[in-house]
Amino acid sequence: FANFLNINDLSDSELHELLTSAYAFRDGKQVTLKRPVYTANLFFENSTRTHSSFQMAEQRLGVKLIDINPSTSSVTKGESLGDTLKTLQAIGVDFVVIRHRLNNWYGPMVEDKNIELGLVNAGDGSGQHPSQSLLDLMTIHDQFKTFTGLNIGIIGDIAHSRVARSNAEILNRLGANVFFSGPKEWFNEDFAAFGTYVEIDELLPKLDVVMLLRVQTERLQEDDLNAFTAVEYHQQYGLNKARYDVLKDNAIIMHPAPVNRDVEISSELVEAPKSKIFTQMHNGVFARMAILNAVLTSKGLVEE
Ligand code: CP
Repeated sequence: FANFLNINDLSDSELHELLTSAYAFRDGKQVTLKRPVYTANLFFENSTRTHSSFQMAEQRLGVKLIDINPSTSSVTKGESLGDTLKTLQAIGVDFVVIRHRLNNWYGPMVEDKNIELGLVNAGDGSGQHPSQSLLDLMTIHDQFKTFTGLNIGIIGDIAHSRVARSNAEILNRLGANVFFSGPKEWFNEDFAAFGTYVEIDELLPKLDVVMLLRVQTERLQEDDLNAFTAVEYHQQYGLNKARYDVLKDNAIIMHPAPVNRDVEISSELVEAPKSKIFTQMHNGVFARMAILNAVLTSKGLVEE
């Protein structure tokens, strides 16, 4: 694929190949590029993990990075995203990695026939976070060797979460039983197509995967924010020691991070034996190498 925008656009075989490729990179696979390849990472929203692990993946693949930061670019003078991409293309950039607050920022870019450089979605608003989904699939498959029949609970601020949206759809398609929990008012009925809402204390003992979400203060309206203090949220929906103790022996805990410690999860549990939170971040480098390798391969830029 020339662009990587939404993991749910991939066929089952493309997804399988991508996972296999990610594991191969984790096992030390290296590739050779046919010529110097240039990229720019445009993060219009803040990021630690996605930005730095795309950068790490690019360095490991031998891709050369053009240093551009939206907050100090001509975007601040009103230049459009389309014109920014055409500018980068004109100076020789082969692909861009973009995080943007707008859902589906990429739709109009794909429609524009004058934009030919590769587009990689590093998260769009509350839309999709496809590279997070791939690293999450790697982490789940490592533990269970399958997705079929797994009970996966996505818990927290569902409505505003691109991680919830990407993961619920792909995990449902791969045969997992998807459940949702957290504040009922933060559960959007759109998600009912992919799984069922269950109260947290009824749900936790059934789960193979506990996928916690960050309370996204930057996307919540004032009313939503006033609904809970951090202490109340933690008490009603957070993973604390008593809830940890009812989990199955081989259950795993995931969180895309950044973590609000003592809100979604007790601080003492972030690195508990069942937690895969830092493993997810480690897998993220290799998931992103696989994604970029697929984009570059489709452009004929990787030696066979
Ligand atoms: N998980 C995730 O997307 O983290 P960042 O916002 O730090 O990239």
